[in-house]
Amino acid sequence: MARCRLPPVPASGITGEDVYRDRRRLLKALAFAPALTIAGCRGEPPPPVDVPRAAASRRAGGFGTDEPMTRYEDATSYNNFYEFGSGKADPSRAAKTLVTSPWSVAVGGECAKPGTVPLETLLKGLVPEERVYRMRCVEGWSMVIPWLGVPLGKVLRRFEPTADAKFVAFTTLADPRQMPGIRAPILDWPYREGLRIDEAMHPLALLATGMYGKPLPQQNGAPLRLVVPWKYGFKGIKSIVAIDFLRKAPRTSWNDMQPREYGFFANVNPAVDHPRWSQATERRIAGDGNRLFADRIPTRPFNGYADQVASLYQGMDLARWY
Ligand code: MTE
Repeated sequence: MARCRLPPVPASGITGEDVYRDRRRLLKALAFAPALTIAGCRGEPPPPVDVPRAAASRRAGGFGTDEPMTRYEDATSYNNFYEFGSGKADPSRAAKTLVTSPWSVAVGGECAKPGTVPLETLLKGLVPEERVYRMRCVEGWSMVIPWLGVPLGKVLRRFEPTADAKFVAFTTLADPRQMPGIRAPILDWPYREGLRIDEAMHPLALLATGMYGKPLPQQNGAPLRLVVPWKYGFKGIKSIVAIDFLRKAPRTSWNDMQPREYGFFANVNPAVDHPRWSQATERRIAGDGNRLFADRIPTRPFNGYADQVASLYQGMDLARWY
């Protein structure tokens, strides 16, 4: 299948106020137009989307970073989305079959207002924000990605979780007709992930609908994926169809498969090695067209977000509660 080619995105742009206002309008339209993602990948090239992005900058609260961003073409062609195959290049080729519109999310469990809602209703009235986050995979590579999305907590509160909601579980679509990879028993499908409720309500936790000023491509988890920048990438569950508020910690896919290798918390921790991969350093995907990986750099506790999130884990033995 032909690869979906998207127009290049400027690495950065200085954004004047009027441009910025236009950009906000455009971002809003884009973030809630998941159909664009599919249309753009069916044969004809998508319409050029010239969205000036704010230059990467350090922002209070960990919402931005001045580290160089990973190139769009690398972030969208080096992926983990096992429902479309386990090779890094498989999802960008195979995920074109994922139909992302219409899309709805079933929300249930310990909340006053459960229900199955269309994506547009789930996100209604919420203005997508751009967050430039580091993403660290437990395999030892990392990226810097400008996401578009809404704070997870704002969406969860709409369903009025009860005092018994101590955890939140997320589930990915599992449709063998759209997802050829789930014929292979690599994981116990559907892909499942979870957070403690206070983690889910943390302002850094994002429900992403876009990246690089465009709607999310299918291979990156369109139309809705989780981004939890202080945790290993496998917590960032893609193409979410269900959210459940629970009293107890949910079972999660990678933890179920190999609990000694993939913890429930999975906070980035350079001091605790994975049995197969050292976590002390990482290879940043900062390709320049010739070389995908830059030199190794030290990995930071909580992926550099310790100031924002370490207090969530006070009193916990971080080596044990990996
Ligand atoms: N979500 C689903 N449904 N299936 C997956 O295989 N892989 C996870 C996570 N979310 C995965 C998933 C892993 S291991 C990582 S590192 C990130 O997605 C990768 O996100 P990216 O492909 O956008 O870089």
